[in-house]
Amino acid sequence: MKNSLFIQACRCEKVSRPPVWMMRQAGRYLPQYRKIREKTDFLTLCKTPELAAEVTLQPVDILGVDAAVIFSDILLLLEALGLPLKFESGGGPKLDKVFYLGETVRSLHPLDCSKLGFVYDAIKIVNRKLEGQQVPVIGFAGAPLTLAVYMIEGETSRDFHRARKFLMRETSSFEKLLQKLAKAVAEHLIEQVRAGAGAVQIFDTWGGLLSRDLYKKIVLPSLRQVIDPIKTLGVPVILYVNGSAQHLETMKESGADVLSVDWRLSLADVRKRIGYGHAIQGNLDPTYLYQHPSDIEKSTAEMLYMHPEPGLIANLGHGILPDTPVENARAFISTVKNWKC
Ligand code: CP3
Repeated sequence: MKNSLFIQACRCEKVSRPPVWMMRQAGRYLPQYRKIREKTDFLTLCKTPELAAEVTLQPVDILGVDAAVIFSDILLLLEALGLPLKFESGGGPKLDKVFYLGETVRSLHPLDCSKLGFVYDAIKIVNRKLEGQQVPVIGFAGAPLTLAVYMIEGETSRDFHRARKFLMRETSSFEKLLQKLAKAVAEHLIEQVRAGAGAVQIFDTWGGLLSRDLYKKIVLPSLRQVIDPIKTLGVPVILYVNGSAQHLETMKESGADVLSVDWRLSLADVRKRIGYGHAIQGNLDPTYLYQHPSDIEKSTAEMLYMHPEPGLIANLGHGILPDTPVENARAFISTVKNWKC
């Protein structure tokens, strides 16, 4: 697996073309996923390893992506820490809101990884089914900040006012919360690697809420706490931050091998700012996949032109949107696969 295109690109080695996959590639834009969802609710799907494995493999079989991100959700970790989680049909996640931060942090018990055994079992099944193919499994988790924000708000919100208020008013409790979450996130990622994940990605979906200085001061230590122990396992660590423009230099300091950036940045600028030594993952605007396939080819080619050196993993700048036509996703993937470095 170390010779797969994907792992080589993570290591900035010279490759014949950039590898390609899409965040949220296993999901609702695929009719084959929707068919399974007609009979099974989302959480049951995540917790049934055979089904989670089947859904993980759909984009590999249908689109020929170069990596298989395991089908799961970042919020299952919070459920395993004792917070009741629901997904309302057609809506987003719902958790019980936190009212007293200090008390909540004190009462949060350590992670019992056996509660997430279904994730590790799904990874083992996927690896068995991918035997002989050079397609690594990507394990993942939410970044401590993004998880903390969901704990405090209970759901997705417009500007995450409550979480930011807690951060400013109860800074030391907030930092303790990030530390506790970082320990759990690291343990969960390590177990995924032990089960066979060839790389791991940390999703900091709400990192863009914070200023550069605050992110560096409050969030960076928790990212290091997650990444340091994984580095010893020898698998690449990918850090995705939505709102990476103000945080690129901090992302570099986190110790991650691959910096995954959103669509607001140009790849040429990212390379200029971070220098050489880290791979870059990104970053086509997911809404560009609403264009005609011939225009998607053009946009994808423009993105690839911007980064001629090794160390690029082609991806979107955030997850693929649920109403994206499959043919449009295919246009993106095949443009990358036909590219010559
Ligand atoms: O990338 C993949 O294909 C693997 C699967 C995956 C899911 N969630 C499945 C999912 C991954 C990597 C995630 C990560 C995740 N989950 C993030 C970080 C990445 C990002 O997109 O910002 C976040 C913030 C969540 C929390 C979450 N889960 C929300 C806010 C929602 C509702 C909004 C939405 O996209 O539907 C979910 C539900 C969810 N997670 C679905 C899937 C396939 C939709 C469930 C369904 O109705 O079938």
